[in-house]
Amino acid sequence: MKEYAQIFQGTAFTSQSPKEVKALKDYLFCIDENGIIEKTVAPEDIEYQDLLEAYQYKDHFHRLSKGQFFLPGFIDLHVHAPQWAQSGTALDIPLYDWLNTYTFPLEAKFSDLEFANAVYEDLVNHLLANGTTTVLYFATVHKESSLLLAKICAKKGQRGLVGKVVMDDPVQNPDYYRDENTETALKDTEEFIVAVKELAKTTKQGVYPVVTPRFIPSCTDDALNGLGKLAAKYDTHIQSHCSEGDWEHNYVRNRFGKNDAFALNDFGLLKDKSVMAHCNFLSDDDADLFAKTGTAVGHCPLSNAYFANSVIPLAHLHSKGVEIGLGTDISAGFSPSIFDNARQAVISSRMLEEGVNTKLPAEKRGVPDSRITINEAFFLATAGGGESLSLPIGRLEKNYAWDVQIIDTALDSAKLPLFDSHENLLDTFQKIMYLVKPENIREVWVQGEQVHTR
Ligand code: GUN
Ligand code: FE
Repeated sequence: MKEYAQIFQGTAFTSQSPKEVKALKDYLFCIDENGIIEKTVAPEDIEYQDLLEAYQYKDHFHRLSKGQFFLPGFIDLHVHAPQWAQSGTALDIPLYDWLNTYTFPLEAKFSDLEFANAVYEDLVNHLLANGTTTVLYFATVHKESSLLLAKICAKKGQRGLVGKVVMDDPVQNPDYYRDENTETALKDTEEFIVAVKELAKTTKQGVYPVVTPRFIPSCTDDALNGLGKLAAKYDTHIQSHCSEGDWEHNYVRNRFGKNDAFALNDFGLLKDKSVMAHCNFLSDDDADLFAKTGTAVGHCPLSNAYFANSVIPLAHLHSKGVEIGLGTDISAGFSPSIFDNARQAVISSRMLEEGVNTKLPAEKRGVPDSRITINEAFFLATAGGGESLSLPIGRLEKNYAWDVQIIDTALDSAKLPLFDSHENLLDTFQKIMYLVKPENIREVWVQGEQVHTR
């Protein structure tokens, strides 16, 4: 019999398609030494009993207790790591003013490595405790503290994709918080990429450098051009903000005479490994360009309620073949939880479909066919996020990383309302998605390693 590094036994939920969730009842998950799922075995498979007999009393056999379930670890496609220090505050003014009043002064403090260390350690702990196993991060303009964030992810076992933020335009950015000039912005980015690639050599779960122009308004044409070239030279991921709200969308149209999507594409910034936050104002042509280039949308529904002046037409974008995942957008979104954002994604889509202005007749109030289900939100939080990053994560299937959260529905202090022992497992799944609190997340594993327990 083949040797496995670990075997886990229990009931799991994973996406079968964007709309369908599959319950894998009492499965065995056989994990290899690299933390990859080598095989999934159903109770009716012939080898199930043999594997159980061979492994069940060994140290590296893990059986879930009654009331516990596996979910794939969540993938957060949009976090501003420094903004964790202001989460839950400062949500009272529009984006442009918010950046200048609260956010840039805060981010400027991350030149101080001690301050950065305190915030970043706490943030990574919090995200892991919320079941988030992979995160696409914006750090700040500072090369050293951006690298510190990558090192903290590497050390704590989270799969971090980290960007040193580029903001080089002296007209658009304050003097106290920007790259010194275009040349230093590109040089620092290149050195950052090289350093993270070096760190990756000793990081089991992976750590990745990300080319990160903050958004078009922060950057000169030369910087955007140079960043597109660096991304191609080192084959990195790319992230930015795209068509988020009225101000930003119109700024880009005025500067380039086209929408963000086409402007970013002109600079070589829309690729298969690109993830653009928000994208609420994508036109159909923009969406087609996203689908053609493999660029993904990082949808941040809580943030959008404060800063995007709109609800994104998510179902429409999905139907056009655009890859989509979820993001918290800490701290424009106040919650570090992808559960919270999955819930809000459903709620916002329902409000878009029905409309909100009761002065209008029902048939004129909303946008038909806009709703998504909780199953689709779960897909975005897991498999959709994995596709967006072009990584084998987000599904509990052969050849995917063993990134899981173990959910306990039977915890004394946070029991879920499960009263019928014959309840359909997919109903239990919905209760988990809507009702779980961080307390219910008992263990988190990344790439076969336990990274959180409570
Ligand atoms: N656009 C440019 N920077 C930011 C940011 O920090 N948060 C959000 N939501 N949008 C942005
Ligand atoms: Fe953002």
